[in-house]
Amino acid sequence: MNRVSLSEDVLISLGLQDNVEFIRFSLVRRVEHFLLIISFVALAATGLPQKFNAADWAQWMLTAMGGIETTRWLHHFFAIVFIMEGIFHVVYAFYGLLRRRVGLEMLPAWKDVRAFQHMALYFIGKRQAMPKFGRYDYRQKFEYFAMVWGWLLMAATGLIMWQPTWATNYLPGILIPVGKMLHGWEAVLAVLSIVIWHGYHVIFHPDVFPVDSSIFSGRISRMRMINEHPLEFEEAVGRPAIVEGLKRG
Ligand code: HEM
Repeated sequence: MNRVSLSEDVLISLGLQDNVEFIRFSLVRRVEHFLLIISFVALAATGLPQKFNAADWAQWMLTAMGGIETTRWLHHFFAIVFIMEGIFHVVYAFYGLLRRRVGLEMLPAWKDVRAFQHMALYFIGKRQAMPKFGRYDYRQKFEYFAMVWGWLLMAATGLIMWQPTWATNYLPGILIPVGKMLHGWEAVLAVLSIVIWHGYHVIFHPDVFPVDSSIFSGRISRMRMINEHPLEFEEAVGRPAIVEGLKRG
């Protein structure tokens, strides 16, 4: 397998290992992610027992949280945190673009389609090496836009359920039960994808186990930059991230 995971020994022998770290996430982005963890977990913990209220575990959780009214109050409180965080994220991204502090690296591009194709061929043995990625690979972009889509759907359907009388002044009444169904099942989908997909990439993936701490520290090691973001590494240090045994197509 050409999955590039150079051991520290190999890097030392190539003279590439030192204590250099790269800044990956600014303090604002780290605080944003922290707020997202707190609000998302709290919304799942207060929402899912309402959806599956006939189950014993759900009844136990509702009682532990102080009853249905307190649980609903908590759900609404963390919904406000979740929505405000999303609005802040967009405003701050535009500010960063205007001040030229961030680029458009997160936007999907044709190179992502080509990288996906390349990766599929690599997995079936038709390519010698994995594609080279920049700051974000196509899997990270996919996850980011799944989050954007999920945020829009949960905020819209949640607000409709929260203020049904107001919502039906502008929208057909059928949207209340439809919104409730979409909200509940999108919650299940979101929790499963966070636990399985995100959980694998940030905890159980062999390159980062037991945890990818970059979103908390803001830093990423030089070895991981070379392995996971070689194009960004090349741009940052001005020389190719290709050494013997580290070949990408
Ligand atoms: C984006 C902001 C959100 C708003 C405004 C919102 C609002 C609501 C409201 C008003 C309800 C109806 C029950 C109640 O009054 O508490 C509800 C139910 C629920 N929420 Fe949310 N919510 C949001 C985000 C989320 C998120 C992120 C999740 C899960 C990760 C979630 C999971 C649920 C579930 C599972 C239910 C029960 C649905 C059912 O009974 O079928 N919510 N939400």
